[in-house]
Amino acid sequence: MDAKNPLDTVKAAAGTAVRKAAEMLEHKVPGVPGSTTPPLEEPTQPQGPLPPKSDQDGPQTRTPTGAETGAPKTAVGPQGEWLTTSDGVRLHDTDHSLKAGERGPTLLQDHHLREKITHFDHERIPERVVHARGSGAHGVFVGYGTGSSVCRAAFLAEGTQTPVFVRFSTVLGSRGSADTVRDTRGFATKFYTQEGTFDLVGNNMPVFFIQDGIKFPDIVHAAKPHPDREIPQAQSAHDTFWDFVSLHTEAQHHTLWNMSDRGIPRSFRMMEGFGVHTFRLTNTAGETSLVKFHWKPKLGVHSLTWEEAQLLGGLDPDFHRRDLADAIEAGAHPQWELGVQVFPDTPEQTFEGVDLLDPTKIVPEELAPVQPIGQMTLNANPVNFFAETEQVAFHVGHVVPGIDVTDDPLMQARLFSYVDTQLTRLGGPNFNQIPINRPHAPVNDMLRDGFHQDGVHGGAAPYRPNSLDGGNPFDADADNGAFIEAPVRIPESSKVRAAPASFDDHFSQARLFWASMSAVERQHIVRAYTFELGKCYEQVIKERQLRALAEIDADLCEQVATGLGLPAPSATLPPTESTPSPALSQVGSRWPVDGRMVGIVVDADDPDSLGDLSSLRSAVFGAGMVPLVVAARGGQVAGDIPVQRTFATGRSVEVDALLLAACPAPAPDALPSRDEKAGPVGGPGGSPVDPRVRLLVEECYRHAKAIGAWGGGVDALRAGGCTAGDVGVVVGDSGSAVLDEVLGLLASHRAWERFPA
Ligand code: HEM
Repeated sequence: MDAKNPLDTVKAAAGTAVRKAAEMLEHKVPGVPGSTTPPLEEPTQPQGPLPPKSDQDGPQTRTPTGAETGAPKTAVGPQGEWLTTSDGVRLHDTDHSLKAGERGPTLLQDHHLREKITHFDHERIPERVVHARGSGAHGVFVGYGTGSSVCRAAFLAEGTQTPVFVRFSTVLGSRGSADTVRDTRGFATKFYTQEGTFDLVGNNMPVFFIQDGIKFPDIVHAAKPHPDREIPQAQSAHDTFWDFVSLHTEAQHHTLWNMSDRGIPRSFRMMEGFGVHTFRLTNTAGETSLVKFHWKPKLGVHSLTWEEAQLLGGLDPDFHRRDLADAIEAGAHPQWELGVQVFPDTPEQTFEGVDLLDPTKIVPEELAPVQPIGQMTLNANPVNFFAETEQVAFHVGHVVPGIDVTDDPLMQARLFSYVDTQLTRLGGPNFNQIPINRPHAPVNDMLRDGFHQDGVHGGAAPYRPNSLDGGNPFDADADNGAFIEAPVRIPESSKVRAAPASFDDHFSQARLFWASMSAVERQHIVRAYTFELGKCYEQVIKERQLRALAEIDADLCEQVATGLGLPAPSATLPPTESTPSPALSQVGSRWPVDGRMVGIVVDADDPDSLGDLSSLRSAVFGAGMVPLVVAARGGQVAGDIPVQRTFATGRSVEVDALLLAACPAPAPDALPSRDEKAGPVGGPGGSPVDPRVRLLVEECYRHAKAIGAWGGGVDALRAGGCTAGDVGVVVGDSGSAVLDEVLGLLASHRAWERFPA
């Protein structure tokens, strides 16, 4: 593929689409709930609906059949300054039902009461059977042009801008479950291309639990809460999950990814995405290639520690959702490069011995480099969660000319499943007409009627061929942009319920993944297995999973067995050679720090700690990050700088780095009876520093976060058990001097050396 200065092309083309980080530069803390500051008293002067916040954007205003309406996006929101019924009749009172006298019974006649309650009663729709918990954002994709040599899809052409909507999700939990659980993450992208909608419905892991979609109900039933007690929620740490994956060892590779740090991402913005299956691309010359799609995050791939993930599950169950929305609001727009691994389309459909139709296998990037073909920027938050993030409907079968599916048996079942489930979830067959799902290409599909039909289809002849409607719609051909399936030869065969012999290899790539991990990543994997299996009730399930671990690596098995207090079994299968793939490890490079949270501990009673707070905050904002000022009590310090967290409300897991400007004495509420974090010996007078600050330092140190201190902050550092010489700890003369070094440390995500090998 020929490279045409892709980044220059994209920067020029994306310039208009990507908002600059204006608010970041204006030093606004993200999270503002509305587009204006509310008054203290209830407003009484009638006015129209307020505009959306500047970081928000709704779907384009298209008709159900894809035509641009030219209407502003607010046209689909509330209209006018008066409260009305759903038919637009103005109302004078919504606080009192219509009654026979002030103390009398409510009258059936009260249409407004009945309409209000009835609509409320039906506000909920079924949640997704999997991936129920998700967060979405709007953005733009810009093609580099480099993909055109293998794919004729118009949206890949150099400089072409295509609107996108992305939904990230967890797989197992219900809609209200916590974001930071150990799980695979969905990464689904809807490209509204001029040739129709392309959905890339992937995950943050490149492999899947099963090789054939017929087993999807089995793996999902095993992973969901137990059917009797309905526990545990959004967890794989339970008997049914490990029962299934230990009996069904093709799941072991994906399970190993789940037990790695990939299962607890720091942020959606810091995840890779994978199409998982192999796709078939066709170029304008009609030549085909097999490819795997990859999303590469600009910010690198980073994870939480397990303790952080667990604490956040309680302290901020919306951690990933908030992180995404705040980063976009702050102007730190997340970016990914879309890339492809390209393989020759041979009859065997293998590459370097890897079966490209087996979704439990990767092709190491060292064997087939990921070639960038475009860049995606997420630049707007949805205006309405339900209308957009909840009602968006992705489908693996939504492909455009130039992109085709393959015979991967997992993919084949998915091609059936998505529309089928959406028929129920979205209440009928017309969900493609919901604004977020409307194509940006003309639609003339001869599909008619059904629940919630939004189209008003003219004509008398929704069938082909016809003469009554002048023959419309006509079949297109390739020259008119028709989607034409790649004419793949199917070898002569018999109908069977069977898989090819290559699908029997369940362990070689799990060994490859393990061999590619750094020492600290391996420790995390050992701990994850030990935790998860330790939560199982049945000993035989633990023993059976240990047998599977023995086939992956004896050391891994031995360490987990030790933690479980069980003997380590030996491998029974012959070992395979594994050449490590460094691309699989998350450790060892440096990345941008956009949108990271920096905690700054100050003392309102210590003017020295507030001296350069304003310029320090500006420097943090200027570096594309968000400062979080932490003090003993709320309000404002150093003039008008808001205190965002108090010692009672804040916790270390919210920040990526900690700056200590002060050593605040224990505040009056540093009492275990008021705030257990204060600890048994933390009462006023018992310590030189508020014990919650000490805990902040201790936790940040334990989680290998960068810590900086100056002035009085050096005493707080010492109280937390750290000194200037410690790895990842910076002591300096001023906040700005310390910040520079902390930024350098943050670029590596963590001070990894704090976790000795
Ligand atoms: C490589 C394997 C798979 C990947 C990467 C994957 C990915 C995803 C993603 C990202 C979503 C969430 C979409 C959204 O945000 O709305 C999703 C939903 C779903 N997936 Fe899959 N999935 C896989 C396998 C399967 C299989 C094998 C089936 C069934 C045979 C299946 C059935 C479903 C269903 C029913 C939903 C809910 C869709 C909805 O209600 O809108 N998935 N999947």
